[in-house]
Amino acid sequence: MLIIGVALFAQEEKKKKGPSPFENPQNLKILTTKGEALQMTMRNFNAALGQQCTYCHVQGNFPSDDNPKKTVARMMISMARDINGKFTDGQQHVTCFTCHRGAVTPLKEAPPAQ
Ligand code: HEC
Ligand code: HEC
Repeated sequence: MLIIGVALFAQEEKKKKGPSPFENPQNLKILTTKGEALQMTMRNFNAALGQQCTYCHVQGNFPSDDNPKKTVARMMISMARDINGKFTDGQQHVTCFTCHRGAVTPLKEAPPAQ
C-alpha cells in the first residue's frame, strides 16, 4: 500500500514538473546522448568549471543558444575530442577537468613556489 502511494506520488510530481529536459533534447549539435548519460555529462561540466548550469544556459531554456558560453563549450567539446583523437589507444585521456580543475580559466603558469 505504501509502495503504491509512493509510486502515485512520484507520478504526480512528474506531471507537475513536466518531462525531464534530458529525455528529448531539441538542439544537440555535437553530443549524441540523452537521458541519464546526458545529465551526467552536464554535471561533469559544472564540476569541471566550478559553475552552475546557468553559466552556459539561459535560465529555464536549455535548448537555447543565446548564452555565448554554450557556444564556447561546444568548441571545447570538439577540441577535447581532437586532443583525445591524437592518442593512439582510442581511450579518453583529456577531459574538461584536466585543464579547468574547477575553474573557468585554466592556469597558464605554475603558481609561484612557496
Ligand atoms: C560548460 C557549459 C555547460 C554547463 C555548465 C552545462 N551545460 Fe548543458 N549543454 C551545454 C552544451 C554545449 C550543450 C549542447 C551540446 C550539443 O550541442 O551537442 C548542452 C545541452 C544541454 C541540454 C540539451 C538541451 C536540448 O534540448 O538540446 C540539457 C537538457 C542541458 N544541457 C542541461 C544542463 C543542466 C541541467 C546543467 C547543469 C547540471 C547543464 N546543462 C550545464 C553546455 C553546458
Ligand atoms: C586543453 C585544455 C582545455 C580543455 C580540455 C578544455 N578547456 Fe575550456 N578552456 C581552456 C582555456 C585555456 C580557456 C580560456 C580561454 C581564454 O583564455 O579565453 C577555456 C575556456 C572555457 C570556457 C569559457 C570560459 C569564459 O570565461 O568565457 C568554457 C565555457 C569552457 N572552457 C568549457 C570547457 C568544457 C565544457 C570543456 C570540456 C568539454 C573544456 N572547456 C575543456 C582550456 C581547456
